[in-house]
Amino acid sequence: MTLPQSLKQAYASNFPFGAAIQSAHTNIGAPQEPIIRAQFSSITAEFEMKADQITQSPGVYDFTAADRLMDFAEANGIAVRGHALVWHQSTPDYMLEGSPDVIRFNLESFIDAIVSRYRGRIYAWDVVNEAATDNPADPTAPYRNSNWHAAVGKDYIDWAFNAARAADPDASLFINDYNTELSGKRERLLEIVRDLLDRGVPIDGVGHQAHLNVGSSPADLMAAIDAVDSLGAGLENHITELDVSVYVDPGECFSSQTNCAPGYGADFADVPQDVRRAQAEIYRAVLDGAVARPSVTSVTVWGVSDADSWLNNFPISRPNHPLLFDRDFQPKEAALAVVDPDYEITG
Ligand code: XIL
Repeated sequence: MTLPQSLKQAYASNFPFGAAIQSAHTNIGAPQEPIIRAQFSSITAEFEMKADQITQSPGVYDFTAADRLMDFAEANGIAVRGHALVWHQSTPDYMLEGSPDVIRFNLESFIDAIVSRYRGRIYAWDVVNEAATDNPADPTAPYRNSNWHAAVGKDYIDWAFNAARAADPDASLFINDYNTELSGKRERLLEIVRDLLDRGVPIDGVGHQAHLNVGSSPADLMAAIDAVDSLGAGLENHITELDVSVYVDPGECFSSQTNCAPGYGADFADVPQDVRRAQAEIYRAVLDGAVARPSVTSVTVWGVSDADSWLNNFPISRPNHPLLFDRDFQPKEAALAVVDPDYEITG
């Protein structure tokens, strides 16, 4: 399958079209490297800008991998989306130790270090990632009952946004979360966003991770974008981690890794035709919906090829095929569907 134009060309007048990548993907000879240069106008570090990757003790920072990503992007005229300053899963132990004042100081120090280092070179930061709870019965709802919330309550969110704004006044600052396509989760996230806006905390946008599957409804994701627009605060919307799993799993697959859908083979041709067709249709509908909404200012897929996807190991190990390029680094039908509006999807 060959593409008549690149992903970034197809959306050049709408928004940057990005991918999450790893610094190893920028090596000469890496199969991802030519694809990234040819196809994407934005990159996000899949993990190499997360706090636990940069710092393990106060004031000691290693930016080697993050610098490599930044240098590669700049050498190739690719924009960079920053991800993620505060995430419960990537917080070094020391950052949650000590009094609230110490915790605040260590958080602000890290944010100042990384955001200042790349000031003017990163167009948007995911400042706080996954702060909303999935469980409305949580005593902490709408906030996630996370290690951060347990340590200092919700104040860490304000500290992070204020520190990021001070370190780079020109970067757009985002709160980022998954399952915004589900109305309950969306409402909890928006309650947090409204609270931030009401109190003048500097937030510029909402990131919708959009980890979809072939049973997802693109209209539900668009409803989340429309709900942000309806706040009337002029917030941007970014689709930050788009992928479309070929598996439709029940909740217990995610909570206890049970009753997950059985895996298909590692070859994309092993995936049933109706599933492949659904994937291409969902990608097309998401991109069409994004183009139709001026508040959508960036779209990023969470990986270059199916070989790279985190979904090969989450929620269980199983070959997944959620991205736009297959394991042989060839464009899939979903890629054709999003660059060519006239292409007829067959699966
Ligand atoms: C994942 C990466 O893909 C993995 O490589 C890493 O080990 C763990 O994090 N939501 C997010 C992303 O915001 O940062 C996560 O990325 C996927 C879920």
